[in-house]
Amino acid sequence: MAAAAGGAAEKRRIMCVGLVCLDIISVVETFPAEDSDTRCLSQRWQRGGNASNSCTVLALLGAPCAFMGSLAPGPAADFIAADFQRRGVDTAHVAWQPRGEVPCACCLVNARSGSRTIVLHDTNLPDVTARDFERVDLSQYKWIHFEARNAAEQGAMLERVERHNRAAAPERRVRISVELEKPREELLPLMGRGHVVFISKDLARHFGYQSAPEALQGLRGRIQPGATLICAWAEEGADAMGPDGQLVHSDAFPPETLVDTLGAGDTFNAAVIFALAEGRSLQDALTFGCRIAGRKCGIQGFDGIV
Ligand code: FRU
Repeated sequence: MAAAAGGAAEKRRIMCVGLVCLDIISVVETFPAEDSDTRCLSQRWQRGGNASNSCTVLALLGAPCAFMGSLAPGPAADFIAADFQRRGVDTAHVAWQPRGEVPCACCLVNARSGSRTIVLHDTNLPDVTARDFERVDLSQYKWIHFEARNAAEQGAMLERVERHNRAAAPERRVRISVELEKPREELLPLMGRGHVVFISKDLARHFGYQSAPEALQGLRGRIQPGATLICAWAEEGADAMGPDGQLVHSDAFPPETLVDTLGAGDTFNAAVIFALAEGRSLQDALTFGCRIAGRKCGIQGFDGIV
């Protein structure tokens, strides 16, 4: 499929399916003690959620992209919709829900270490369904990235893309990537459905692995033949196993000072997808992902990553 990627005439876009939420971020000088009352250095609202953050990064890298996820009308959604628009992310496939609340996360970013501590409320807004996904014109997309969330519905969405791919000429196929971040049992089968599968350090650790290469070796049996498995491991960089089973590694590119790691993983995923979609090699894509994610950790938010 490498020949199908990139190309001067390629007009098709990248879509990310998953969460969008409101991040209310307080940047603190030191992490507060429980039941204390302190002031923070700064505070901001930011559009968040893995798939949504990845769209921000894709847009900043210059890739036409679209977000698909749920919102419910109200002030949080107004802020989010305006921010998508500011970034040039297409939201035609946002599923507007008649009930439920837009997920909201209170995030503490420690300015000294860059650590991010997230408390997310995300319980009552229905996720997008396979039915919503029926309306997506697959011929418009060269790549669809799924943040694993609602496994059964996403399984049906994947089936639709797989059916499309079986009938399509190689250059019209849609590449599929899947991100597994949370170690939730019902999400694991989705690992077998992506051409590119991202697993988090958290998930790898949950399985008892102590490093990215160990996780790749241990979990390779869960991906489909010919797929690529990728695992980023913070300051250790990232490792990947390509279609032929070869292992590649990139060191991390840490900034001089770590200031904000919120969304660093989403940045990595987006940069890797961007590079692979352009037809670059797995090694190049991995290195590019680490480089852009490293830059992100050195700044607040996403402006300035490119
Ligand atoms: C970062 C992030 C935040 C959001 C949280 C959801 O990866 O997507 O933007 O609050 O994770 O789990």
